[in-house]
Amino acid sequence: MKNQIIIFDTTLRDGEQVPGSKLNTAEKIKIAYQLEALGVNVIEAGFPISSPGDFEAVEAIAKRIKFATVCALTRAVEKDIDVAADALKQAVAPRIHTGIGTSDFHVYSKLNMNRSSVLEQAIASVKYAKKYVSDVEFYAEDAGRTENQYLAKVVEAVIKAGATVVNIPDTTGFCLPEEYGAKINYLMENVKGIENVIISTHCHNDLGLATANAIAGIENGARQIECTMNGIGERAGNTSLEEVVMIMQKHDRLQFINTINSKLLCETSQMVSDMMQMPIQANKAIVGSNAFAHSSGIHQDGFLKNRENYEIITPEEVGAIDSSIVLTARSGRAALAYRLKNIGFDLTKDEITNLYPEFLEMADKEKEIRDEQLKILIDKASFLNINSQNIQASSVNL
Ligand code: KIV
Ligand code: ZN
Repeated sequence: MKNQIIIFDTTLRDGEQVPGSKLNTAEKIKIAYQLEALGVNVIEAGFPISSPGDFEAVEAIAKRIKFATVCALTRAVEKDIDVAADALKQAVAPRIHTGIGTSDFHVYSKLNMNRSSVLEQAIASVKYAKKYVSDVEFYAEDAGRTENQYLAKVVEAVIKAGATVVNIPDTTGFCLPEEYGAKINYLMENVKGIENVIISTHCHNDLGLATANAIAGIENGARQIECTMNGIGERAGNTSLEEVVMIMQKHDRLQFINTINSKLLCETSQMVSDMMQMPIQANKAIVGSNAFAHSSGIHQDGFLKNRENYEIITPEEVGAIDSSIVLTARSGRAALAYRLKNIGFDLTKDEITNLYPEFLEMADKEKEIRDEQLKILIDKASFLNINSQNIQASSVNL
């Protein structure tokens, strides 16, 4: 039987911590509706104590979202929890996400506390949040660098205090996938009561391992992934939603399912990018503009013979416009013939061979050859013996 993975989206909270990408309430509401349509199970709407604007946004989202759980972040502090509960009071399914740092870095050099006082505060915060909502998620900040035995003690204690979900963040993106997976496995095997709660991954991308770590987490028993659209978030960002969803979709042997409608991935990604004014890098997996672009001759020839030679995902599966054959000085004859045919010039093999050196000369001077330039190439090509019918077609197109 396949295991259901809960998709917890934190684009509006961790994602919005990206400098310069602040959203207003109206924009946050639009993104929240889109996330709900996409099929996310939990929307982390913000950190209500952080500013009146964030409080207003969480409250507005809580009022409107009908199917997903709406979650608000707090520190393990009563005032934070009071404010979060207030912001969430109209939510159909509210969740308070509270927590405290558990690594020795955080315990001693951030909080100026000790392990036992952190443990006490963790328990107290969960008990306090339970007075307001039944669904309480606890995060052990910097769990990635927390010693496993102490982490297990904290996790067991917060479960006893009533936590329904326990988040194991790799806050600094430090863990290797096998290490992070082993950490989740250690908790699964050593924490009493862990079978009654959901263990969550929350991985940062400082070493480019956020997606790999999240997958290692679910392979070892975690059942919720915290992620953001386009992988945005604090510093190098978070696990990207589109990546984990497509990994689950493409690797059946993992036996995981989720509720995301992958056909809405590109639309959602673009919306987040536009509203946050954060361009998507061209080579970004799944949603980058080059994710379905083929530019070298060998790849283009293989792709044109059978797209599966070079594509493991179809553009339709993720709602991308289409695959493209990009013409550069690395492109071959097959790609040139294909692109010419697309604009109305069905040339023979010999004609393409004659035209190819001219094409390369042009391509060496340019980054990319566009349709208009192909038409110029054809126009100049009559002396190259190109079929006169095609030349006439060209004048119609020009
Ligand atoms: O990275 C982190 O540890 C966090 C927590 C607040 C969940 O974002
Ligand atoms: Zn985070």
